[in-house]
Amino acid sequence: MSTPRFVTIPDHVAIIMDGNGRWAKKRGLPRAMGHRKGIDAVREAVRTAADVGVKYLTLFAFSSENWRRPEAEVSDLLGLLKAFIRRDLAELHEDNVRVRIIGDRANLRPDILKLLEEAEHTTRGNTALTLVIAFNYGARDEIARAAASLARDVEAGRLRAQDITPSLIEARLDTAGIPDPDLIIRTSGEERLSNFLLWQAAYSEFIFLPQYWPDFSRETFYTALETYAARDRRFGGLSAAKAAPAAVVV
Ligand code: FPP
Repeated sequence: MSTPRFVTIPDHVAIIMDGNGRWAKKRGLPRAMGHRKGIDAVREAVRTAADVGVKYLTLFAFSSENWRRPEAEVSDLLGLLKAFIRRDLAELHEDNVRVRIIGDRANLRPDILKLLEEAEHTTRGNTALTLVIAFNYGARDEIARAAASLARDVEAGRLRAQDITPSLIEARLDTAGIPDPDLIIRTSGEERLSNFLLWQAAYSEFIFLPQYWPDFSRETFYTALETYAARDRRFGGLSAAKAAPAAVVV
């Protein structure tokens, strides 16, 4: 293992794990093999995040649009997610990792829902890394569900429309209680957000990597963290170096 070369560790890293299919195609393998190798990269990402002190790692495992893929591929992806939770939950729990799921839980297959809820329940007291799995997740859907929940409160007279603030909206998102991602990484050379964490990404840094997801390694993660550490985050203000003193005393 090489020595990390960064000084600022982001609290929250979110990853769009893209390129499993192209990884497989390049090798003349079925797409399913790409997803299978993708699970090894998931394990590597989780271990690396925990080792360097990232507090939240969000992985885009299955989008609300992924149901449009051929039935066999959907079933393969669901099977892999189930196998990952079944096989790795004990180890994650032992490593003090907390699992949280974001995405729409309505109408999920009962076996999947049960497994996801079991992972959350088993690890709810853990305090090291929080692994956030985005499953059946779409950001516009998440925001619409939050809006509907606030609208129900207005209708019932529990809330006045004029009292709705960004923090009230945030508290109804699936990510309530989770800080916004400092860094969003997407693999495979595509440079778009694809309906991932649209609200939460307001001030995130973006890193687009050329590697396909199955090739994402500890070293790839280190390189991204190094790039992140060199960024100047201003949140709409001025950087510390450029900011003028608040008052000049003569
Ligand atoms: C994108 O590759 C990847 C996905 C749609 C799914 C990612 C899922 C996993 C790695 C497995 C389950 C995850 C967890 C957290 C256990 P693609 O198929 O879109 O690749 P392509 O763009 O090259 O076709």
